[in-house]
Amino acid sequence: MLAYRHLFHAGNFADVFKHALLCRLVEGLKKKASPFFVLDTHAGLGRYDLTHEWAQKNAEFKNGIALVWGRTDVPEAFVPYFDAIRGENAADTLRFYPGSPRIVRRLLRPVDRMVLVELNKKDCHSLGALFGGDRRTTVHLMDGYQALKAFLPPTERRGLIFVDSSFDRAREFERLAKGLADAHRRFATGVYAVWYPIMEPLAMRAFERQITATGIHKILQLELLIQPRAYGDGMRGCGLLVINPPFGFEGEAQAMMAWLQPALSREGGGSRRIYWLAGEG
Ligand SMILES: C[S@@+](CC[C@H](N)C(=O)[O-])C[C@H]1O[C@@H](n2cnc3c(N)ncnc32)[C@H](O)[C@@H]1O
Repeated sequence: MLAYRHLFHAGNFADVFKHALLCRLVEGLKKKASPFFVLDTHAGLGRYDLTHEWAQKNAEFKNGIALVWGRTDVPEAFVPYFDAIRGENAADTLRFYPGSPRIVRRLLRPVDRMVLVELNKKDCHSLGALFGGDRRTTVHLMDGYQALKAFLPPTERRGLIFVDSSFDRAREFERLAKGLADAHRRFATGVYAVWYPIMEPLAMRAFERQITATGIHKILQLELLIQPRAYGDGMRGCGLLVINPPFGFEGEAQAMMAWLQPALSREGGGSRRIYWLAGEG
C-alpha cells in the first residue's frame, strides 16, 4: 500500500521547478524531426484539483504555482509550462494543476509517444481514465523501476525518461542510483531527468557518490533551495539530475532558475546551483 498521494503536494515549488524544466527537455527533443518516446516512471494522477480538501490541507500550491501564476514578467522559456496550466483551466483561474503526464502530452507531436507508469492502483485507474482513447499514450500499473527494464530501449532510439519518485520508502536514493545504472546500460543515449528532494548534506554527498560511481557521463545537476536552514521542517529544496541534456538546455536552465529562485524563495532565503556532476568522459 502506497501512502504517498501527490494531491497533497500538487503545484508546490518542487512541481514548478521540475515541470518548467521538463518542458524544456521535451522542446529540446523536438528540435529533430525524428520521433521520440517519453517514459514517466512515477506518473501520479495526471491532473490535480486544487480545491480538493487534500490539496487544501497544507495548500502547498500557495508557495509554488500561486507565487508565479499571474506574474507579467515571466521569461519566454516558461511559455510551454504556463500554457499547459492555462490549458487545464477556464480563463485565468487556477483550479486545476496538470501533472507531468498532461504537461508532456500537450507538447508531443503526432509522431511521438508516451508510456505512463504508476504503482498506486487508484491513481493509475484515474490516469487511465484521463488518457483513455489517446493512441499516443499507454498507462501501466507497475513499479517504476521495473518499467525502466521493461520499456528500454525504445524502438525510436530517442527518448526522455522522467523519474519522479515520491521518496516515501527508505533507501530511495540507492534504488534510484541502481535503477539509473540499469536503465543507462540499456539505453545510454536517452535523456534522463531524475527529481530528488534535498535532505541533509551527508545523505546528499552519498547520493552524488553513488551516481558518479555508475560511470555515467554527461550528468547536469540542478538544485533549488527555497528556505533558509532555520525555517522549519519542510522540504528545503530539491534537485534534478539531467543525463544527456539537449543542446542549449544548460543555458535555458540557468536563466530559468535565476528567475525562479527569488520568485519562490521564502524570506529571501535559498540559493541555486547548476553543476556538471559528470562531464563528457
Ligand atoms: C511525486 S509523485 C509523481 C508526480 C508526477 N510525476 C507529476 O510530476 O505530476 C510520485 C508518484 O509515484 C507513485 N509511486 C510511488 N512508488 C512508485 C513506484 N515504485 N513505481 C511507480 N510509481 C510509484 C506515487 O503513487 C505517486 O503518484
